[in-house]
Formats: sequence, structure tokens, C-alpha cells
Amino acid sequence: MEATIGMGRGVVHIEESECWYLQGAAVKRIGILTAGGDCPGLNAVIRVVGKAAHQGGLEVVGVEDGYLGLCEGRMRVLGPEDLSGILTRGGTILGSNNKTDPAACRVREGDRVVVKDLRDEIVARCRDMGIEVMVVIGGDGTMAGAASLCQRGLPIVGVPKTIDNDLWSTDITFGHDTAVTTAAEALDKVHDTASAHHRVLVVELMGRHAGWIALSAGVASGADVILIPEIPFRMEAVAEKCLQRNAHGKRFTVISVGEGAIPVGGQEFVDRVDPDSPDPIRLGGVGRFVAQEVERLTGLEARSIVLGHVQRGGTPTPRDRMLATEFGHHAFELLQAGQWNRLVVQREGRTGSVPIEEVAGKVRTVPVDHPLIRAARGIGTSFGD
Ligand code: F6P
Repeated sequence: MEATIGMGRGVVHIEESECWYLQGAAVKRIGILTAGGDCPGLNAVIRVVGKAAHQGGLEVVGVEDGYLGLCEGRMRVLGPEDLSGILTRGGTILGSNNKTDPAACRVREGDRVVVKDLRDEIVARCRDMGIEVMVVIGGDGTMAGAASLCQRGLPIVGVPKTIDNDLWSTDITFGHDTAVTTAAEALDKVHDTASAHHRVLVVELMGRHAGWIALSAGVASGADVILIPEIPFRMEAVAEKCLQRNAHGKRFTVISVGEGAIPVGGQEFVDRVDPDSPDPIRLGGVGRFVAQEVERLTGLEARSIVLGHVQRGGTPTPRDRMLATEFGHHAFELLQAGQWNRLVVQREGRTGSVPIEEVAGKVRTVPVDHPLIRAARGIGTSFGD
């Protein structure tokens, strides 16, 4: 069934799928939750969804701590006072959690922790509470959970978020611009020390299996070497670049490396395994490896830093606030139009939606012929290949 929704600037319905309608009845009560890793702009989405809902006479129930709160029934009604003054705040007023899968939830029973499928319980609880549609703000793991809840009968509208910008079917997610800004600032700062001390400075950036943050921040701050998961690197090539720069009188090198970057023939560097998490691998360590190998191969002094969760925090950039607001409002339009079980996306600057199940569990990596990669190569930046 085709539906036309309140069309803002450049809003387009990207792909139609089955729609459910409330058979003429207007939605009265909605839920909202934030799940997965936090990211700047979550509060901006909560704010716009909540305010638009209040304006339309709907009640909004906030779920605490993502799917964990949904499994445990921790929810509260959000009033206008909850939505005020949060546009510029990082984190999420609802709390989040990246360890809970509604289909395999770890719950305590006496002394034991048991794994249970709580999806039917969740759907029943939402029905009991009169929640007709749930707005789920999250990344790929969260959307996999959302798809499985849709299947059990909980109508959902998804809003994509992640600093990693790796969500399938959308060109951009809010939070990414803020993370890139933070990462570029860090690269700019280490540039000073690298130059003053004639060192090689390696900055390890987040992004999981996609190199969007390392690439964008690296290009933005003019890193000399950029290492991303999509282009396996050779240490010999990285070392060669550092030595070449020295030979040309540039006695320092700045290296931007994505945490998922892989040496040719090697594997991703794993920092820890979190068995409680649906995606248990936490990457880390490649920056240190690169710095140590540079020292060994070149004799130059090298240091590495891991920027870590600094990239997830802070005030969202104006661009992220605008994107989060546009996405959140589009989600509200979808839920009002009965276009459920869809995820808000943006492609080529146009906001629309796709079926949630189309996105679940997929990763959008950087194409190796991306214009930023071509531009960087064009000015001599090394990708270690
Ligand atoms: O997906 C966001 C992200 O920050 C990744 O870039 C990073 O690999 C991961 O989450 C870190 O997860 P955690 O907060 O569990 O350490």
C-alpha cells in the first residue's frame, strides 16, 4: 500500500513495503527508546518526536536503557519538562544499553543467569500499556532486534544513529559529524606535538569494521597516512612514507587509523570480548601495533593514542542537531501515517524510509574508490597499500 506523508524539503518515499494501518483510528500513545552505543544527537531526536507528539495530542512513554528497560518493564511517561533544554545535550536522557537482545535476553533467576526469548512478553507489555507504536533509535544491532519485535507484532519506526556511519541503506547517520569533528581536533592537536618533537603520531579512531571516521577526520586534518579496514595495509608502505617525509625535510608524520584496520594477511585487532553483548567483539590495539612497527622499521620515534569514547560524547554539532531533528520528525510523520516497521534513511540528501528488516545486521563500509580516498591519494596521502 502506498502512503503519502507530510512532505518536507526533499522528502521521498524510497521504497514501499507492506503497511499496517490502525483502521482509521489515530495513534494515541507511543513509546520511544535509545539502544546501542550512545551518540550525539539522541536527545535531539527524543525532543522532536516528543514535542511533535505532544503537539498532536499523543502521549509519549520513554523506555529506560534501551532493550534492557523494555525487557524489565522500566518505562515512564515523558512530559514537556523532560523534553526541554535537551537539544544540545550529548548522551541520552533515557539511558542506553548495547548488551541486550530481546530474542536472547540474559535475566537473573535466583542465583542463575538464564537466556530467554522475551519478545512475546515485550509485545504483550507494550499492548497492556497502550503503546501502539515504538520509536526505536539505534544502529544495526538495534535494528536487528527491532525487526524481530516487528515480526512478533510490535509496530516500530526506526531512527538510525551511530557515530560509525556504517548503517546500511542510509548515506548518513547523526552523531557521525560530531565524532569526526572531535577526531579531527585530536589529529590537529597531535600534529603540533609530532612536528615539535619530530615524531610519528598514530591516532586510533572508532568505527568498528568501517573506516568512515578515520577517513573523514584524516582528510579533514591532513593526516599523512590513513589506515582503514577497507584497505588492508602493509607496514613496509607505512614505514616508507614516514622515511620519505623525513628525507624531504618533513620530520614528522601523523597517522589516522581506524580501529578495524587490518594488516595484509592479518586480522582485526581485538581489545576485549564482551560475552554479554550481541556483538561481543570490541576492537582496539592497531594504533599501538602501527607505532611499534614504525619504530622498529624506521628507527623514528613514534607514539600512539586511542581516542576512544571521547568520540561518542559532547554537544552535537549543529549539522547533527539538524539531521537528528529531521530524522526524528520524519519518524513521527511515518508513525502517524501508519507506515510502521520502517527505518528513516537519507540518500543523496533526501530523507525517506526503508523496511527495517532490510537493514538489520548489515554494515555499510567505505567504497575503496570513494571521492575522499581519491582526493587524498591525489595529494600523496598514503593508505598503506
Ligand atoms: O558503534 C559505536 C562504537 O563506539 C564503535 O565505534 C566502537 O567500536 C564500539 O561502539 C565501542 O563499544 P563499547 O562502548 O561497548 O566499548
